[in-house]
Amino acid sequence: MTQRRFPDRFLLGCATAAHQVEGGIDNDWSRWVADHPEAVNGGGDAAIAIDHYRRYRDDLEQLGSMQHNAHRFSVEWARVEPAPGVFDHDALAHYVDVARTCRRFGMEPVVTLQHFTLPVWLAEAGGFTAPDAPVRFARYAAACVEALGEQVTWWVTVNEPVVVAVLGYLEGLWPPGERSLPRTMAALRGLLRMHAAAAHAIATVSHQHGRAAQISIAHHERRLLPRDPSLRADRAIAKVPDYLFNRWFLRACVTGRILRPVGSGEAVPGLAGSLTYLGLNHYTSEAVSLDLGAPGMLFARHEPVPGLPLSGTGWAIDAGSLRVALIDLAREFGLPIMITENGVADDHDELRPTFLRDHLGAVADAIDSGVDVLGYLYWTAWDNFEWAEGYTQRFGLISVDRESLQRVAKPSAALFAEICRTHEVPDALVATRQGA
Ligand code: FCB
Repeated sequence: MTQRRFPDRFLLGCATAAHQVEGGIDNDWSRWVADHPEAVNGGGDAAIAIDHYRRYRDDLEQLGSMQHNAHRFSVEWARVEPAPGVFDHDALAHYVDVARTCRRFGMEPVVTLQHFTLPVWLAEAGGFTAPDAPVRFARYAAACVEALGEQVTWWVTVNEPVVVAVLGYLEGLWPPGERSLPRTMAALRGLLRMHAAAAHAIATVSHQHGRAAQISIAHHERRLLPRDPSLRADRAIAKVPDYLFNRWFLRACVTGRILRPVGSGEAVPGLAGSLTYLGLNHYTSEAVSLDLGAPGMLFARHEPVPGLPLSGTGWAIDAGSLRVALIDLAREFGLPIMITENGVADDHDELRPTFLRDHLGAVADAIDSGVDVLGYLYWTAWDNFEWAEGYTQRFGLISVDRESLQRVAKPSAALFAEICRTHEVPDALVATRQGA
């Protein structure tokens, strides 16, 4: 039996996002789904979601009882600033209590300021491409840090900026439903400026209060391999999304410049050195091949790496690619890394035990290779509203009955609790629970 131990201070818990769990939110996503019900697989919306806005105390108590020592959640901008410049102090007080409740139940809060959704007023003014989006975002970030800063050290400005730009502006699957490469570029530039402005605001407000904040984006990385490594065309085309999707945003954050081809190298105030750690969302690897019929996808076809098992979403399950991502990112950026998301959609909780063992094992291997990994946050605690996939994809450790909203922990929740309790990934534990 191999036993691998994480450091005592290693953070272990789950990640969530407001729109996916809270219910009762009026933002660009709720409007989008109301106008385009067909955009959600299987129908459904997040009007109630899992009613977490009202049930957060019980929900967090349940996670604390499972020995989690960290919890990532997002603040919903549309609640906190329902009209431009108008801040809702009750909404802020709610999130202060969420952060306090995390602490009360033994969990370090990790707080995201923008997880895919925008207030309607900002979406109507151009969303990520609105000229004043960075200033607005910085003001909102400052209000959040003023309110929550006593409870919160770990901040994520923007969740998966490249994903939200590509799905909303290139593929048209998410709001605002555009399909335009120039608009995608504009959204990416806007997101970079928003991140820079918010990072500066977080650092400034924290400093005024004598605190040191930890700041990152949640960077989505997929390992992108040439479909046929013997073909020069596949090798060449795989490099394009690998640069744009996996490296461009982070390199811009380090250099402080809007790098080509999205910009022309112009400097952005506050951007250079804006990351104090690196938040990594990692799910899968993909094979990339040349596809001359896909100009909208920059001539790259993406498919799961052949031969690997697939999750409920059809993503290849590839724990080794998490280890490689950790090693590559640490080598290039020299920052400590927090895994801000990693998880699997799995209707019957059959894949998840092995997934957890293998992915946490890959994290332990990366630590052995010298990578400074701060923690691992499983996506996600509760089955929830999975964006364009609606309620069809179940990533949760805990199931939620769609009628009664009753929460029931899955067997893998107990496995993860055991890992949280012992800080160890013993192979035998998985075998025992699967056999049980
Ligand atoms: C990530 C998102 C998260 C969830 C998971 C499955 O890309 O950040 O909200 O949708 O994928």
